[in-house]
Amino acid sequence: MCGIVGYTGPREAYPIIIKGLKRLEYRGYDSTGVALQNGQGVKVYKKKGRVAELEDAIVGKDLHAHVGIGHTRWATHGEPSDRNAHPHQSSSGKLAMIHNGIIENYSQLKNELISKGYVFHSDTDTEVLLNFIEEIKKNNNCSLEEAIRIALKRVVGAYVILLVDADDPNTIIAARKGSPLVIGVGKGEHFLGSDASPMLEYTKEVVYVNDYEMAIVKPDELILKNLGNEKITPYIQKLDLELAAIEKGGYDHFMLKEIFEQPQTVYDCLRGRLDPVAGTITMSGIQQYADQIVKASRIVMVACGTSWHAGLAAEYIFEELCRINVEVEYASEFRYRNPVINKGDIIIAISQSGETADTLVAIETAKAKGAIILGVVNVVGSSIARASHGGAYTHAGPEIGVASTKAFTGQLAVLTMIALKIAYIKGSISNDRYMHLLNELNEIPEKLAWVLNHADHIKKLAEKYKDARDFLYLGRGYNFPVALEGALKLKEISYIHAEGYPAAEMKHGPIALVDETLPVVFIATKDAYHEKLISNMQEIKARKGRVISVITEGDEMAKSLSEDVMIVPETDEIVAPMLSVVPLQLLAYYIGVAKGQDVDKPRNLAKSVTVE
Ligand code: F6R
Repeated sequence: MCGIVGYTGPREAYPIIIKGLKRLEYRGYDSTGVALQNGQGVKVYKKKGRVAELEDAIVGKDLHAHVGIGHTRWATHGEPSDRNAHPHQSSSGKLAMIHNGIIENYSQLKNELISKGYVFHSDTDTEVLLNFIEEIKKNNNCSLEEAIRIALKRVVGAYVILLVDADDPNTIIAARKGSPLVIGVGKGEHFLGSDASPMLEYTKEVVYVNDYEMAIVKPDELILKNLGNEKITPYIQKLDLELAAIEKGGYDHFMLKEIFEQPQTVYDCLRGRLDPVAGTITMSGIQQYADQIVKASRIVMVACGTSWHAGLAAEYIFEELCRINVEVEYASEFRYRNPVINKGDIIIAISQSGETADTLVAIETAKAKGAIILGVVNVVGSSIARASHGGAYTHAGPEIGVASTKAFTGQLAVLTMIALKIAYIKGSISNDRYMHLLNELNEIPEKLAWVLNHADHIKKLAEKYKDARDFLYLGRGYNFPVALEGALKLKEISYIHAEGYPAAEMKHGPIALVDETLPVVFIATKDAYHEKLISNMQEIKARKGRVISVITEGDEMAKSLSEDVMIVPETDEIVAPMLSVVPLQLLAYYIGVAKGQDVDKPRNLAKSVTVE
């Protein structure tokens, strides 16, 4: 949460920072600000609202500078407002700082500073940390770098901070613990960002800064140190990301683009791994731990949100194919619960961003207790990917729409491949079934394209149902996590209240909600539970609920019980969620658009939840 950008070099800093902030708005969009250093002091411009609103508000101001930092905020301490927007300035006015994260002991530090006469102009923890740094610098008569080092040793919490100092016109000082920081290395210039998107057109060479590291960044010099003041050699990596991947490419929204990318992203995920002819699955990051996984008495899936839903689907798949006990944990609960973790337990951390704070801390806790951590992560080089022993990337490409779509199908594809690989090694699957499932998985990209060809029909359904007050999503077995995911998509994009439930469990409570106004979406593709689900449909119909179903092509029975249907091609039940979720993504998207919501940036949300 919160996006940070920095630039130091010969170019004008402001346009680079503004463009970078627009690309990082997925991380937060409550308020925006920039601090520009032009050799005659630091100028700060900031405002409640989106990046474009700040841009409009400061037309005509002096924006000339070769060094600058910028921030787009997701509020933690203090409401979204001009005064709480970053950058904050220190008491002397000389330092300006932006921050992504939370300083947990800020109130203690604030009280100390207030007793020394400091006055605060915002409600943020950021302003407290900044003045704490300034106070140390003044008291110890030391450099800013040294003051930051001392201050950070007292700080409890998570941060990436970027500071500029009026007395040091070319330098940005950055430090990181728990929130992401990438530094782009150009010729005589450096770029800083929460991810690599702000620097893509300028350089492909990047350094991922690690926790407890500080960077002193000048146009032609990048010094990396740990908090013990020891120099670290920056490890420069080549970015494998093109600019087109982070642009809308003619679609109205990133979310729609990302939904439509799924045939390609799932194909990219399978490519080079799955060979349905040879009957092989090649995943080196899993192969290394294959013995341990096969022998494991349990696997724990740890994730949040949509990624948690992928984990739940994986529970069904792993237990069926591998006969290994699987538990699925919300990372935020798992990390605080003192969970029982035994040496050799397998933890699979699932995350699109690879930066979700709760998931990251959960795996660190488990790692410390001897568990093997496998990451199923989308963002290459992200914190969760780096904290994992092994795993596999989903290769879905940048997901910018705040609601997760293509990452989910990518996660399902990777998790299914892992389950199949382990089942094969373990011998818990017959050869015929194994080969059949490899083929079914291989056909998913083509079938996804088929589903997307019917998007116009779903758009019409969206118009019809957009004014409903509530929705219920019901599914059984492999499609139960899809019901949860469909409900989550709808509520976050359209703000319509929606609940996902196991279809049979609805009799134990939610059925009381059913009347002639309630749309009930059944995820009713053909599987082992189909007949039972048909009975559940009858139960809803008998109470005049409006049944909408995701059905398998040719399923006349389910169709006859439904007011409307969304059709997907026939496939094996194990891989069906990758298809059945797509009509629900489209339904949520089109309802959100029909209601005039900002589907790419729904209110109160941020894409990468780097605070607990
Ligand atoms: C929902 C959504 C969130 C994320 C969750 C985990 O559309 O995007 O629920 O799935 O915040 O994020 P990652 O996968 O980045 O760990």
